[in-house]
Formats: sequence, structure tokens, C-alpha cells
Amino acid sequence: MCGIFGYVGQRNDAGSLVIDGLKNLEYRGYDSWGIACKIDETLSIEKDIGKISGIKTSNFSDSCALAIGHTRWATHGGVTTQNAHPHANEDETIAVVHNGILENYQELRAYLEKKGHSFKSETDSEVIPHLIEEYMKETGDFASAARRACKDFEGRFGFLALHTESNTLVAARNGSPLIIGVGEDGYFIASDIPAFLEHTKMVQYLDDGEMVVTDGNNIIFSNLETGEAIEKREIEITWSVEQAQKGEYDHFMLKEIMDQKESVARAVNQNEDQILTLAEAIKNAHGTFLVGCGTAATACMAAEYFFSVIAEKHVNFAPASEFKLYHHFLKPKSLVIVVSQSGETADVLEAMKVAKSKGSKVLAIVNSEGSTIDREADYSLLINAGPERAVASTKALTGQMAVLMLIAYAMNDKLREGQKLLLETSSKINDMLNPRYVNFIEELAEKIQEKSALFIIGKSWNYPMALESAIKIQEVSYVHAQGFAGGELKHGPIALIEEGTPCIALVGNDEVKADIISNAIELKSRGAFIIGVAPENNEVFDVWIKVPDAGNAQALVNIIPVQALAYFLAVKRGKDPDMPRNLAKSVTVK
Ligand code: M6R
Repeated sequence: MCGIFGYVGQRNDAGSLVIDGLKNLEYRGYDSWGIACKIDETLSIEKDIGKISGIKTSNFSDSCALAIGHTRWATHGGVTTQNAHPHANEDETIAVVHNGILENYQELRAYLEKKGHSFKSETDSEVIPHLIEEYMKETGDFASAARRACKDFEGRFGFLALHTESNTLVAARNGSPLIIGVGEDGYFIASDIPAFLEHTKMVQYLDDGEMVVTDGNNIIFSNLETGEAIEKREIEITWSVEQAQKGEYDHFMLKEIMDQKESVARAVNQNEDQILTLAEAIKNAHGTFLVGCGTAATACMAAEYFFSVIAEKHVNFAPASEFKLYHHFLKPKSLVIVVSQSGETADVLEAMKVAKSKGSKVLAIVNSEGSTIDREADYSLLINAGPERAVASTKALTGQMAVLMLIAYAMNDKLREGQKLLLETSSKINDMLNPRYVNFIEELAEKIQEKSALFIIGKSWNYPMALESAIKIQEVSYVHAQGFAGGELKHGPIALIEEGTPCIALVGNDEVKADIISNAIELKSRGAFIIGVAPENNEVFDVWIKVPDAGNAQALVNIIPVQALAYFLAVKRGKDPDMPRNLAKSVTVK
């Protein structure tokens, strides 16, 4: 949830470099920020509540080659300057930024207080620099003291510590991601690649139970427990700096919605042999499970329909947070397909653990190359959507559905047909997302922005898209939104419909069209204002959002105007769609 970024090396602008990097992590959301720089042998700490955007990087000294920074979402301790990171030890030789939660921090704090340490904040994180300082009295060196401190921590952490005297950075990970950027003139350590993407594309991943020490010239990875050195590969990231920037758009969310003009085609561009092998693996599996969270979960639900209709194969969907309870059904021959944009979602990682404990194989469908899920799965397919920075997942969803649909076609020996359909769909999305179309959705948002509730109905693969529509509208516009299977309305939800309640009907030219239109008529007769998302107009629609006819890929096109509607609802209601309240881009806690 929080952002971490640090640098050590030969550059002398580490202060402004870290501030700029933190600005690139703003999309994660935060309520306070801070930076610690080593300037002339002493530590200079600046922190504040609120946004970092207004800070001038020129405020930071030109003579700093070692700095760490943080953007914080308050968990332990309120939103105050004191609670903002970095936290330092007594004599300010050690500064720490931390993501995660140290569950036993009260015990550690009591121990340290007895030893004479005093604390300035209410955070769990502040125990880290003090404990390292305490252990340095015994070990003499910073890195061994940091390793020893990690052994005392209970809970999840990813922290970055700076030591002024040895001019080093130490990072350790147990649950919260940290990535090392290998620069020509030093090392970057961050919670997310966009922090340093403009400086380097060469990365090394820190895994759970590992630590890294660097003075800017050398870097040593080691096992946290044993201290044994670990060899790390350098991996080149394929994302470009432009892909990670807003460009001409006001918000990342809109940019990423528009990116779908191309990202679906990129998702389809897969190694055919690999798709065929995986299709075969699903055919031969004794039970296949599709697992994800939030938007990725709705992609999994849609894929249940793809596998049923296209491949005539039964697969089981489960939200990752519930998957533990499915362990009875897992066998060594089961296959678990995990779907995740970030590749770091804690519940998905937990589901993978459950699968592995039963000897089942795991196939990951991810966007973030080199992420933990990508690396830990037995097989992994990248959806190639490019960086998705808005908290609301948009282009990742359509990429995930495209890859899953391709596999379904391959299972039925129709890979070519699947490729053709999806590439045609991609080009239809390109035509659809023209400025006039986007304006039309914006005007609709203007019209319904004051409504307090919105309902979405769909059938077949449009049912998960109705659920997905609700997630999008809820998370960015804060309007109460709920998605239903059209046929379920008369079993309860229809009681919520009043005169003028906006209801979106997701329709395709398919075998369930008549049913969903009939559900829309039921709603209209109770006073609902019907917004039809459909290839063809219908007299029941009060507003018709035209979408191309995409056959089996209809779910991919129907969701896009609703993503745009959610975006414009947020903007019209004065909310920042890129940084919705209470939410983080990657949810690394269970
Ligand atoms: O990175 P992941 O795809 O694993 O993330 C899963 C969910 O946290 C994510 O889709 C979330 O629901 C989004 N905010 C929805 O827009």
C-alpha cells in the first residue's frame, strides 16, 4: 500500500531523485510522505502530511548520494508528521522506511524502552531503527544487526534502512515487495518499478526471506535466516517510461481505458506452443480452478463461461480469499489458474501456497513481469498490458479475459479462430473509443451524477461484467452500485428500484439476449431508467450506448463504456479516480 524508494551511488542528487521517484508512486495512494538524506555526514529528515506534489525538488541538497523516501497510508498511528516515515534511531545514524505490519511491535518497543530508547511516533515501524541500533552494540556492523532484528519481527514487512556511517542501504523482505534497480551509477530500491523506471530497466527481485546490502558500488543478496549469499539474475523490464506516464490524459484511469485500443491485441500475442501446452494441461487436469481477487476475480468468472461455451469444459471459480477452503478438492493432478494484474496480491499468493501444498500445478496469468506470482508459478503467461497505475483495474481485465479466451479456443483446437476473433475485437475497440464516443459517455455521467444508487444486470459472461461494472463505479465514484444476474432480479433486488433509478443492462447478440431484454423491461416497469450497453438499440433503453457486436468476446467490449462511465462519474463528483479512498493498487495484506 505504501511506497518505498531509495538510492545509493555516485550521483549527488539523491534527494531530488527520491522525491521524483516518490511522485511516480503517488498512484498507490497515501496520506503523508517523508525523505531522509545523508548530507555532509549527517541525516536530514523532512516529512509532512498531505501530498508530495507541491514540494520543489530544488529544496533538496545537491550533495546527497544516499537517500530513502516513503509515501504512507496510515495503519498503526494516525495521519501525523511524527508518524510519517522515515523513522530514525536515537542519534539519527539509521533511518528506516517500512511497508507491512510488525505484529509484535508493542513487545519490541517495551523491550527497547527498557534499554533506554525513546520513541517519537505511534507506529510499529519505528522499532526497526532502534532495534538495529541496539543490535549494532553487539554485532558492530549495520547489516548483521539488521539481519538479527529481522529474526525478531513477526508479521509482514518490506523495509529499507539507511546507515550514514557505513554509507549503505539494507533492504529486507517478508511479504511486502521490494525491487532493486541496477543503475550505471548506483542502486535503486523500491516497492514498485515506476519509481526508478526512468533511470534503469535492469532489475533484481528480492524474495521473501531475503536481504540485500549495497553501498552503491557492490550489492550482496543473502538469506535472512542463514546469512548465506544468494546469486541474483538481472532481468530487463520491457515497460517503457512513456507507458508508465499519463501523457495527454488527466488521469491514469482514462489513459488505461483508452490503452485498450491496443492492449487486447498485445494480450493475444502469445507463444502458440505455450498456449497449446497449457490448453492440453487443462484438458488433462483432474479439476481446474480459476482464482483471483476483485477485478481479476470477475475475469475468472467470465472465463468459467468461456471454458463452458467455447471449450465445453467445466472449470471452477473461487475468489482467492476463499480458496483455502477448497483444499479438499485439490490433488497433484489439479491445476490452479491464478489471475492477477500486480502479481503481488496476498490472497492470491496464499491460494498458490494452498495449491502447492497439495502438489497441484499453478498457472499464472499476470501483467507485472517478474512479480512474485509470475516467478513462483509453475507456468506463467503475461498479458502485456503495460504498466497499470490507476487503482481501478481496466486494461488488465480485458487482457486477462483475452488470454483466458484464447486458451479456451485452443482447448477446442480452434486457436486460430480465437486469435482472429480477439484481433477483430481489438480493432473494433479501437474504432469504438473515438472522441465523440467518449464525450457521449461523459455527458451521460453528467446526467446521472447525482443519483445515489446504480444497478447493473447481465447474463452469461455479461453477468461477471455486471459485477465488474459495480466494482468500477463503487471504487472511483463512491456511488452505491450493485451488479446482478438479470434472472436474479425478481428474487429480491427488484425491490430496490424506484422512479428514475439508473440501471445498466449489458446485452449481446447471443442466446440470452431476449432474457436480458425481458429483465430490463421488468426494471423499466418499476420506474428504472435503462441504460442499454448493446450492439443494437431496443425500445426499452432510455439511453443506448452502442458497442460493436463481438460475438463470444462481447464481455470485453461491453465493459469498456462502463469503465469510462465510472471514470467520468468520479470526475463529475469531484473525486480523484486515480487515488480512491481506502484503496491501494496492490493489496499485499490478507
Ligand atoms: O493486482 P491484482 O489483479 O491481483 O489485484 C486484484 C484486486 O485487488 C484488484 O483487481 C482490485 O479489485 C481493483 N481495485 C479493482 O479495480
